[in-house]
Parts: sequence; C-alpha cells; structure tokens
Amino acid sequence: MYDVLIIGSGAAGLTLALSLPKHMKIAILSKDALTEGSTFYAQGGISAVLDKADSFESHIEDTLDSGAGLCIEEVVRNVVEKGPEAIDWLIKAGVPFTREDNDVEGIAGLHLTREGGHSNRRVAHAADASGRAIETTLVSKVKDQKNIVLFEYHIAIDLITTRKLQQRNNRCVGAYVLNTENEKITTFQSKFTVLATGGASKVYLYTSNPDGASGDGIAMGWRAGCRVANMEFMQFHPTCLYHPHAKSNLITEAVRGEGGRLMLPDGTYFMEKFDPRGDLAPRDIVARSIDHEMKRLGIDSVFLDITHKSEAFIMEHFPNVYAMCRKFGYDMSKDPIPVVPAAHYTCGGIMVDHSGHTDIDRLYAIGETTFTGLHGANRMASNSLLECVVYGQAASKAIAEQFDLTKDSDHEVDIPDWDASRVTDSDERVVINHNWDEVRRFMWDYVGIVRTSKRLQRARNRIEMLLTEIDEYYSNFRVTGDLIELRNLAEVARLIIRSAQKRKESRGLHYTLDYPDTDERLAKVNSILDPIRRGSD
Ligand code: FAD
Ligand code: SIN
Repeated sequence: MYDVLIIGSGAAGLTLALSLPKHMKIAILSKDALTEGSTFYAQGGISAVLDKADSFESHIEDTLDSGAGLCIEEVVRNVVEKGPEAIDWLIKAGVPFTREDNDVEGIAGLHLTREGGHSNRRVAHAADASGRAIETTLVSKVKDQKNIVLFEYHIAIDLITTRKLQQRNNRCVGAYVLNTENEKITTFQSKFTVLATGGASKVYLYTSNPDGASGDGIAMGWRAGCRVANMEFMQFHPTCLYHPHAKSNLITEAVRGEGGRLMLPDGTYFMEKFDPRGDLAPRDIVARSIDHEMKRLGIDSVFLDITHKSEAFIMEHFPNVYAMCRKFGYDMSKDPIPVVPAAHYTCGGIMVDHSGHTDIDRLYAIGETTFTGLHGANRMASNSLLECVVYGQAASKAIAEQFDLTKDSDHEVDIPDWDASRVTDSDERVVINHNWDEVRRFMWDYVGIVRTSKRLQRARNRIEMLLTEIDEYYSNFRVTGDLIELRNLAEVARLIIRSAQKRKESRGLHYTLDYPDTDERLAKVNSILDPIRRGSD
C-alpha cells in the first residue's frame, strides 16, 4: 500500500511529490515516458508578479478580464499572491530560467516576457523551452528521492472507490493500472490518490498537445462520482504552425509579446480591427478573429510576422521555435510563418477546493485536469503552470495534515483483483482507430471555435452512439492503452458537448451563432455537471 498514489508526472504531479513529507511512501504513474506530457512542451513560461512596476492587483485584474466573468475572484487572488513564492521554489529546485542580470540572484534577476492579456511583463521563462526546463529539473529531483517510486508506461484504467466495493462511505482507495509494456493489470492501493493527468485537447483533430492529452483524469473522476465544471471552455491557441507535415507545433505567444504581428496573405495586419489590444488581446479573441478571417477569405492559414526583428534577437529569444520552423522550410527572421489556431487547453475539469480536494474523500486532483475557478471562461497565458505549482503545494499540505489524523486501520480495505475472466483478445482493433478519428473530427467540425445549437446536437447524437459502441467493446475485449484512452476521450467529448448545450450565450471561449451575445445574468454562473444526476439534460 502506498501513502500517496500520484497519477501523472507533469508539473502538477511532480510539484506535489517533491512537496510531500519525505517519510511518506509515494508512487508516481506516468502512462508514457516520465517526461512526456504537456508540461514538457510548454514554451512561453510561467506568470507571476516579479517586476517592480507590476502589482498583484494588475495580475488579478488581467486574469479576471480574460476569464470573462467566470473566474472565482478569491481563487485568482490566492494563486496570484502565491506566484513569486512558486517561482522562487522552482529556482531553488534548479530550474534554469533566463536571467536579465546574471549578477542578481533569485527572482529579482529574471528576464520577463509578455503574452496576450497581460498588461505587464510578468512571464518567467527559460528561452522558449520553459516547460522542458521545469519538467527535466523536477524529474531529476524525484529520481533522487528514495521515498518516491516511479512507474513509467503505467496507465491508470479506473479509480477504485469504496462505493464500487459496496461500502457506505465513499472514499478513494487506489486505482487499477495497466502496465503497457507487459500488458499486466495491477491494483495500486493507496491511502490518498491524486489525479494529475493533464488536459483533454486531443479530443480535437488539430491540437498543440501531445498524444496523451486524452482527458483520462476527468473521465476517471467523473465515473467515480466527481462533479466536473466548465467543460465547454476549451481553449484554442491562435498560432500553431500550418504545414501538411507539422503535428502539434506551437509558436509561442511570446513571439507576439516581443512584437510579432498577425497578417493576411496580402500583408495586411488585422488584429486591431477586432480588439484595441491588437495582437496581444486574450486568446479567445485572437483565435476567433483568425477563424473569421480564414473563413471570410477562404484561406488555409494566416501569417505571423516577426521579420522586423534581427536574426540575433530571434535566435536569443526563440531558438527552438526558430529551429522548428527551419525544419519545415521557414526562416522566421525573413519569412512570415503560416499559422492556424488549434486546441490547446482544457479550462474546465474536476471540481476541487482550494487544496485540490475533490468530491470524494481522499481523492485529490491538481493541474490541468481540474476546475479550480482560476481560469473562468478563458485562461490567460502562462497562468497554467502557475496553477500546477500552487495547487501541487496546497494539496501536499492538505494530504500531510489528513495523513497525520488517520491511523493505518482507517485505510484498510479488501480490494478484489481486476477481473479479466469474461473478456477475450479483440479481433477488430480497427474499431478503436476508426472511433478515435471520428470523435476528433466531429468535435473539430461541430464543437470548435464557432458553434451552433444544430451542430452541437449533431455532435451529441454521434457521441451517444459511439459511447454505446465503445462501452460494448470495453466489456467484451481485453483493455489496451488505446482503448482506455478512447473510452476517456469519448466520455470527455460528451461532457464538453453537454456543457456547451447548457450555455445559452456566448462568453469567453464558448461562442455560438445562435446566442452571439453575452447574457449578463449568467456572469459567475459556472457550468456544473453532476454524475449523480447523469444524463438529466
Ligand atoms: P501534464 O504535464 O500534461 O502531465 C500529465 C501527466 O499525466 C503525464 O505524466 C501523463 O503520462 C500522465 N497521465 C495522463 N493520464 C494518465 C493515466 N491514465 N495513467 C497514468 N498516467 C497518466 N502553460 C503555461 O502556463 N505556460 C506555457 O508557456 C505553456 N505553454 C504550453 C505549450 C504547449 C505546446 C502546451 C501543450 C501547453 C502549454 N501550456 C502552457 C499549458 C501547460 O503546459 C499545461 O497546462 C500544464 O503543463 C499541465 O500540467 P499537468 O501536470 O497538469 O499535466
Ligand atoms: C505559449 O507559449 O504561447 C503558450 C503559453 C500558454 O499556453 O500559457
């Protein structure tokens, strides 16, 4: 039995593991290689008030403004005020942030960049590979800790709760886990379990996210009985490289932060037409404006132009983006880069309190898989990594406190082994690939940047049918990593569609032609789905 089972080894899971007391026995699961996940690919950086000219009030105001009336102000204040402490913790862990002044130590000497929605320079970064710097630093630290056991290529299938074991008080006691290297299923029993499984952007055909972003934690939490909120607010990043062979290639918003501008094929800059903040307007506005121009002109992409900056400047600030563009034949110091929006971030998720506790006893959730109230209807750039660190630390405190209040006997429970006696090997794996493609395509076409009630209903009809098929397949055949992800992806797609159908207005990332205006009466009204009342809408 583990004291804490952490499902996920991104910024959230690793921060938690490193913050828990060292006497606790911790297991970390990662369904792929340990470093693989959105954290590794983060480019721009992590936001915090670090500049003398900046203030907490300004960061709070910008976050609330991006969130379009749905952020929980108390949560925003708490996270923003913990920002400098979070960056300081990362620096002490050894993250090599880019420095303005190498002679000044700590947070004071950091170089800060700007991104959309931020009215000040407040994004700490490691050139344009901030996530890689954070992830590799934290991974090397957990590898050094003897109380932490790492399980790569282990995918959690489902949480185990006492309710499923027919006991009265529902609490989480671990998870069933498939080792994808030897295909064995093991029971991981734990006193506390934490979902740190990242987002669900893979539900869309085009995404900036790595393949594993299939919303597993949201689906597992939902099936176990957790409420989820705000799933209609899927964020589309405005600038992913457009190229037939490019997959998940983000061009960081910091390019616009440092003066890059969006333009049409004829060389016209267009963002001022849509918002006075121009290219640095919040993401929902920029992505929608690009979508509008692409549809209006019937073009495949718009362009991001930073050719007015010197090659030396670009190489210093964006060495990785530069190299990636070169690989596809574009020299960004000379050529405008073709870009399109792509699914990027899941603003909604499992509902948690200020310490990451879910609706189920001893089950916590942290990072992109959650709804904390920070992001509202549209997350502001670089607030996500901040949320991962702040909630990783908050959950560690709460778990340590709860751990001290319980005895070993409080955690005892007999868990039956995974029952595979009634399933066989599938002879029709094509069904899995086909359904993956189908979900991702209709989500893109019907539940994308611009929605209508009719398109949402079409998507709803299809997802209900597919889920029936997937459930049947799941009951008859041995589970594989792909099947587990497909089942989760489809469940999350249904949650997104249901939430989108409930919201009869346009707000933040949810834009529908049938209700194009924001309904002021719905300010502060988050979309909550409750599994106990499953299917009631
Ligand atoms: P992740 O880092 O995604 O990690 C998820 C972990 O869960 C992985 O270890 C995975 O293997 C594991 N996992 C998932 N399901 C299972 C399962 N069933 N069983 C076992 N393990 C499982 N945010 C910012 O703030 N600033 C940025 O500059 C920034 N840039 C970004 C650039 C890109 C290209 C992308 C994709 C995202 C970016 N974001 C950025 C968003 C941010 O990176 C993510 O929101 C954040 O890293 C999520 O961290 P996480 O720990 O919640 O999850
Ligand atoms: C980026 O670098 O543009 C991504 C920042 C983010 O998603 O917060």
